[in-house]
Amino acid sequence: MKKAPYIAITVATLILLASIASAVIVNTDLLSPAVISNLYLASMTGYIALSAVAVILGIVSLTFNTFLNQNEIGSIELEVKTKFSDVVIPNEVKEQLEIICGNMSEDKKSKFKILNCKQPKGYLLYGPPGNGKTSIARAVAGEAKVPFFSISGSDFVKEYVGSGVRCVKEFFAKARQNAPCIVFIDEMDAIGTKRTFGNSVSQDRAQTLTRLLIEMDGFKENKDIVIIAATNCIEALDPALLREGRFSEKIFIDFPDCNSRNQILEKNINSTPCEEGLNLKEIAEKTEGFSGAKLSYLVDKAKLIAANRAKEEKELKLTIEDFNTAFEKVKVNPHLSEAQPSDSIQNMSNALSNFITYVSGGIVPTS
Ligand SMILES: Nc1ncnc2c1ncn2[C@@H]1O[C@H](COP(=O)(O)OP(=O)(O)OP(=O)(O)O)[C@@H](O)[C@H]1O
Ligand SMILES: [Mg+2]
Repeated sequence: MKKAPYIAITVATLILLASIASAVIVNTDLLSPAVISNLYLASMTGYIALSAVAVILGIVSLTFNTFLNQNEIGSIELEVKTKFSDVVIPNEVKEQLEIICGNMSEDKKSKFKILNCKQPKGYLLYGPPGNGKTSIARAVAGEAKVPFFSISGSDFVKEYVGSGVRCVKEFFAKARQNAPCIVFIDEMDAIGTKRTFGNSVSQDRAQTLTRLLIEMDGFKENKDIVIIAATNCIEALDPALLREGRFSEKIFIDFPDCNSRNQILEKNINSTPCEEGLNLKEIAEKTEGFSGAKLSYLVDKAKLIAANRAKEEKELKLTIEDFNTAFEKVKVNPHLSEAQPSDSIQNMSNALSNFITYVSGGIVPTS
């Protein structure tokens, strides 16, 4: 063999390695540069063997690229277990969302199908943090029995110019592949703030948002894909997003009222044993202004306090004193209380809850 093919193969391989490295580090499309440069080298040197190497390298890079993209864009939950009954949802909100489930369900006798109701493309859930926006979006997918394809708006904000636009395109291409599905974009404000055309960063962000608008326009109102977005600050969003035909449905998810707080407490206590006659209404009444997440945190705290307090098995149950102590701690530490329980606290609390249930046989709380 002459020297030329060796040099060409070495160059081709180096190009491929560089392409893989650039794909991993700066998230570029590695397929095109690797294959094109390999084929170019093959045609320049005229060796069939080199063309074959180019094709093999191309297949490798295609596989790698597909693998990378699969892991990269959004996350998909094919079968969502959360249902409307798992989340405390105000009736008027549930009514608005039931149209999605009715339209997407297989049931031909659904009242929405019979009346041929037009399915809005986009729903924007907005309101203060921790009141169930994400949980509600997931419950819609669970109730409609379709996959839940989710991404955070901040995942579209990339370090390198042009990557955000590419990411939006790929995300929606993947959504189409998985239709019918619920597409959920969390933290919409990370990508959807009002466009300004100043420096290159804001220009890139504006282009990413423009791409999102184009993708939304590309969806027909065919009931196969419904986009739900969530934000804490609707006022920061670009008006183009909010117009009819895009996120025409805006649903305010407010702090829970007393009755809802009572239900959220019940759901979080679940099967944890409680002292007889524990009055959750009393706790619901004094937790005005608490978000759902804060109530969930309160229950977790009360469980930990109960576990620490109990000296013997029969004392392993939640009491009103545990809640009062937890309430004082959560109330005086607003910084902590707004946060959702970390995974470790949540896991510890679940483990304790299971343990308490196991050893004491379980008394269902009364409200
Ligand atoms: N309406 C609710 N019903 C039941 N649980 C709730 C509700 N709201 C909040 N929670 C509890 O709080 C946790 C956080 O809720 P979720 O993530 O849905 O809030 P969010 O509105 O999306 O918050 P953020 O705006 O910060 O993203 C839930 O896992 C749940 O334990
Ligand atoms: Mg959320």
